[in-house]
Amino acid sequence: MGIEVIKNPETMREKIQRARSEKHLIGLVPTMGFFHEGHLELMRRAREDCDVVVVSLFVNPTQFGVGEDFDDYPRDFERDRVLAEKEGVDYLFAPDVSDMYPEGFSTYVEVKGLSEVMCGIARPGHFRGVATVVTKLFNIIPAHKAYFGQKDAQQLAIIRRMVTDLNIPVEIVSVPTVRESDGLAMSSRNIYLDSEERKAATVLYRALKRAAEMIDAGERDASVLKEKMKELVSTEPLVSLEYIEICDNIYLKPLQELSGELLVAIAARVGRARLIDNMLFDLG
Ligand code: PAF
Repeated sequence: MGIEVIKNPETMREKIQRARSEKHLIGLVPTMGFFHEGHLELMRRAREDCDVVVVSLFVNPTQFGVGEDFDDYPRDFERDRVLAEKEGVDYLFAPDVSDMYPEGFSTYVEVKGLSEVMCGIARPGHFRGVATVVTKLFNIIPAHKAYFGQKDAQQLAIIRRMVTDLNIPVEIVSVPTVRESDGLAMSSRNIYLDSEERKAATVLYRALKRAAEMIDAGERDASVLKEKMKELVSTEPLVSLEYIEICDNIYLKPLQELSGELLVAIAARVGRARLIDNMLFDLG
């Protein structure tokens, strides 16, 4: 059986409810489309784990700020449909904006604190849009497991918090970041980079690797790590650093002295693209 495309939320929910009543394990991969290897990896993980795999494809307007790239965000539905079908996905849920946000829509989910740091500073309201749409997706597609990329570490921390706080019965599975051969994290927004910017953009990964080497060598002072990372980023004039943060991976609280499970995260603008990347460390 090929992939089935569904636009209507009620039809989608009925299909999943029927599959659940037949004791099938349901996996959901929420996406905004324009698939790259990172998305395909999420689909493969879901396919390995679950009986029924649903990919949602919805460019969610509420997570884009004024002046951000909602209108220009890359879209290619037919290509995405074929790629998802090749991965053995059962359903592609692709609603219209009016199906998800009908007239009069006025309910939002906000994860306080976690949403206001790091990317939340440059993108106020972004994570409110993410938390709202992901809650809606969990209600429309009552999956047992939902798959998210580790590249969006802050998004993951927020979704985990939200699922815990709101008792949403879904297991959140994080999947390691998929990288190009030179280390650049895969992102739909990499398409905005011209060839010079594309080369310069690898500095995000190089800075993270520099941090990893220093941590391996025993460095535990976050300010020293950040300083060295900044120095490296400043060698690329096309890259404008937004932040480097070193924090715990649950509360996203900045650390001075490195310990436990921690996140080193970086965000920068390169030409039109705003890029993010991170590495996780477990220092016990
Ligand atoms: O990570 C994304 O692509 C989006 O933020 C998500 C989770 C699909 C919500 O729109």
